Amino acid sequence: MAPTPTPADRFTFGLWTVGWQGRDPFGDASRPALDPVESVHELAARGAYGVTFHDDDLVPFGSTDGDRDKHISRFKDALAETGMQVPMMTTNLFTHPVFKDGGFTSNDRSVRRFALRKVARNIDLAAELGAQTYVFWGGREGAEYDGAKDVRAALDRYREGIDALAGYVLEKGYDMRFAIEPKPNEPRGDILLPTVGHALAFIAELEHSDMVGLNPEVGHEQMAGLNFAAGIAQALWAGKLFHIDLNGQRSIKFDQDLVFGHGDLLNAFFLVDLLEHAGADGGPTYDGPRHFDYKPSRTEDMAGVWDSAEACMSTYLLLKERTAAYRADPEVQAALEASGVSTLRRPTLDPGESLEDLLADRSAYEDFDAETAARHGFGFVRLNQLALEHLLGAR
Ligand code: GCO
Ligand code: MN
Ligand code: MN
Repeated sequence: MAPTPTPADRFTFGLWTVGWQGRDPFGDASRPALDPVESVHELAARGAYGVTFHDDDLVPFGSTDGDRDKHISRFKDALAETGMQVPMMTTNLFTHPVFKDGGFTSNDRSVRRFALRKVARNIDLAAELGAQTYVFWGGREGAEYDGAKDVRAALDRYREGIDALAGYVLEKGYDMRFAIEPKPNEPRGDILLPTVGHALAFIAELEHSDMVGLNPEVGHEQMAGLNFAAGIAQALWAGKLFHIDLNGQRSIKFDQDLVFGHGDLLNAFFLVDLLEHAGADGGPTYDGPRHFDYKPSRTEDMAGVWDSAEACMSTYLLLKERTAAYRADPEVQAALEASGVSTLRRPTLDPGESLEDLLADRSAYEDFDAETAARHGFGFVRLNQLALEHLLGAR
């Protein structure tokens, strides 16, 4: 039996996820448009904690100020009726053709100025709705042709944009942090800040780098052939895991945005283990929302949309249960011990020991028997099989 989600689990969904109509490069919409107010009610009824959205998900691009106010006010009513929260908001800088060469990094300066204004306006709304995380996904910030984009200048403009908007948040006194979402490609042939690592390096160059972190997405790292759980571990280690996009992806191909767990399930198991138990050893933890950024497959009708939203939450909760059982299993504890997993926490040098001292330690080198030390196995396969057996419910 799958556990029942409650708001205490802090599950959130983008309005654009359940609201995706199934339009793709080869086919028209396969589902009707969904009213954001209905999404709020349907998700609340299923135990979600909140929703997130791009400006244009709630207020269609080009709406008059009067219409914008109406959309916002009925949405606020839905939030009040359901108790749903808006912990994160973001900007659509990719749908309208004006952004075809990017927002912050378009070769057209007037577009860059328009993009900054569009973001600033939505940041004001985010502050009003209590969103503490503002996501930047630069889907159109990139190019198809190497000669078409001066990448160094584009990174200057990207930095200029984020610096200016971070300054704006600070000046306004908003309680808000920024989270950059990496993606290697799609819709552009190549996107700037393609992976967690590239984004971390970029953040280090920012004026207000302390208020800028990451919003990594499962499928985006996997599109680059990378290990998502390992990327999240590094983001945590760097103190930069500000938000997360959970979904599923099967290998290096187009962005599938599948239900969470419907991709690399074993990696999802260790991801949930990390998100839920990173603090167990005193390490940095993630206490933000568990945010799903997936697309209900185009084959599904509206019942299938809500089934898929439930699937995301129950998969997470099942993995949470399975990882807790894995951790509590004495056999796993013994296997972890035998594999030396926890001894990696012990510093390589003794307290107060200098490299000079190490050079003088004959047991570390001159008398070290590399042949003997090379002989023992680490038992990692057995450890992995134990994880798999827990994942499959065989333990
Ligand atoms: C994708 C992205 C987007 C962004 C979202 C936030 O699937 O390519 O995840 O969905 O997360 O647009 O800006
Ligand atoms: Mn995606
Ligand atoms: Mn995403």
